[in-house]
Amino acid sequence: EKCVACARKCVCWSNISIMNVEKYLELFHLPQEKLKEVSARLKRDLIRGLGKHSHHRAAVKMLPTFVRATPDGTEKGDYLALDLGGTNFRVLHVRVVEEQQRVLKMDSKICAIPQEIMLGTGEQLFDHIAACLSEFLDSQDLKGQTLPLGFTFSFPCEQKEIDKSILIRWTKGFNCSGVEGRDVVQLLKEAIRRRGDYDIGSVAMVNDTVGTMMSCGYRDQSCEIGMIIGTGTNACYMEEMKNVKRVEGEAGRMCINTEWGGFGDDGSLRDIQTEFDVVVDQTSINPGVHTIIWFQLLKYKDLLLPPFSNEQLFTQRTSEVHFKIQRCGSEGDLNYRGEHPNILTELGVKWDPVDVRVVRLVCDTISSRSARLCAAALATIANRIRVNRGLDHLKTTVGVDGTVYRKHPNFSEELQDTVRLLVPKCSISFLVSEDGSGKGAAMVTAVAQRLALQSRLLEDSDGEDEEVEEDEEEEEDK
Ligand SMILES: *[C@@H]1O[C@H](CO)[C@@H](O)[C@H](O)[C@H]1NC(C)=O
Ligand SMILES: *[C@@H]1O[C@H](CO)[C@@H](O)[C@H](O)[C@H]1NC(C)=O
Ligand SMILES: *[C@@H]1O[C@H](CO)[C@@H](O)[C@H](O)[C@H]1NC(C)=O
Repeated sequence: EKCVACARKCVCWSNISIMNVEKYLELFHLPQEKLKEVSARLKRDLIRGLGKHSHHRAAVKMLPTFVRATPDGTEKGDYLALDLGGTNFRVLHVRVVEEQQRVLKMDSKICAIPQEIMLGTGEQLFDHIAACLSEFLDSQDLKGQTLPLGFTFSFPCEQKEIDKSILIRWTKGFNCSGVEGRDVVQLLKEAIRRRGDYDIGSVAMVNDTVGTMMSCGYRDQSCEIGMIIGTGTNACYMEEMKNVKRVEGEAGRMCINTEWGGFGDDGSLRDIQTEFDVVVDQTSINPGVHTIIWFQLLKYKDLLLPPFSNEQLFTQRTSEVHFKIQRCGSEGDLNYRGEHPNILTELGVKWDPVDVRVVRLVCDTISSRSARLCAAALATIANRIRVNRGLDHLKTTVGVDGTVYRKHPNFSEELQDTVRLLVPKCSISFLVSEDGSGKGAAMVTAVAQRLALQSRLLEDSDGEDEEVEEDEEEEEDK
């Protein structure tokens, strides 16, 4: 019996034709008009998130990153990067070569974090990191130098400055005492000082989304948006400082980490939420958080019928399986009976051609919805940059990373086509980012260093040839 009891509704596909399934899947269809509405709602949410007082209630958090510029191509030199976000961490030596406009990874080392350190004291954790960095510097013969360091620390933090970031809470199995509520840059520096065998230069805290933008920014200086589409999704972009009400100062720009994965958590997307989104949300670990299922496609397993609701399909290799299912269908359409070994056979799942057809349709529909939602969100950001700068036409580049974007057979194409239709006044190019949390982190540090140097030079020459700057604020902001 091919009946699946969905949490709310029983879908029986054994006797219905593909056409009926199509009708059923219409729930997931988002026409262009709807996407424009979604985009307008996100626009409103971005403004709310940027506000001095309204940001507390905002679903889209719009976090200031204190990254005040993208690369201008004059950055150069050697940097360290530290990437901590799981049970392993990486240290890297990165060289920025101005003549070639390239960011080179010279070498790197991966260190494991043993369980007892993950649950030990903060001091133990940072001593462990400092020790690993020490070994790396020895192996690279870099101990005598004082290199600046970019620190990608993938835990929820409140950033106070480019080199000051307070850990809000541990996640991912970490529970080191004495770190929550403290500045992780300071803890790292203290651990290095305790050792006394080397020193580091200035530190820049880097969010992975920002690293994604910055690692593309050296190659393409119009790269001012970063986007990640993997198991989760997020984006950042360069906003005008005068609109960032939570940070003092009016001049220049700052990269804002939108945290757009929260879009809809306040109910603003209820009209496009299907009953499946509701079920998936209610049975998730954090009901009410990230309510619209953008990308975790296979959470929709209740939509599928046996054998595809089989647990095997939804464990470790989920996205891989999903991509393969989609690819199966696009090659030679459904001619899999035995002679064409595919992922389902590989997994020992029994199936028949109708099943496969339905599964493909469901997967395509859901991933297409994700791509279109993502396009609407990206359209909002690109258009905001255009209007911020008072331009009729904006040419910009998005640095992208994430498994769904990289590996899904049709996701990137559908996203790009849709966003072009939604914002004809923007020409958007896409660059797949290379190692945002390593090379990108080094680039954030390089830019911070360049800006610090420039402002020091400015201070030194202050009073000598002071120029009166023209007031360029033409747009009033509300
Ligand atoms: C980026 O910032 C958000 C919010 O603070 C956080 O949840 C996420 O883990 C950060 N990512 C990295 C790589 O630091
Ligand atoms: C983390 O450690 C503290 C003690 O340091 C303990 O009270 C708390 O329950 C632990 N949290 C988790 C999630 O294990
Ligand atoms: C892939 O995306 C393109 C562009 O949006 C679309 O026209 C096409 O139907 C999609 N192909 C599949 C197999 O989903």
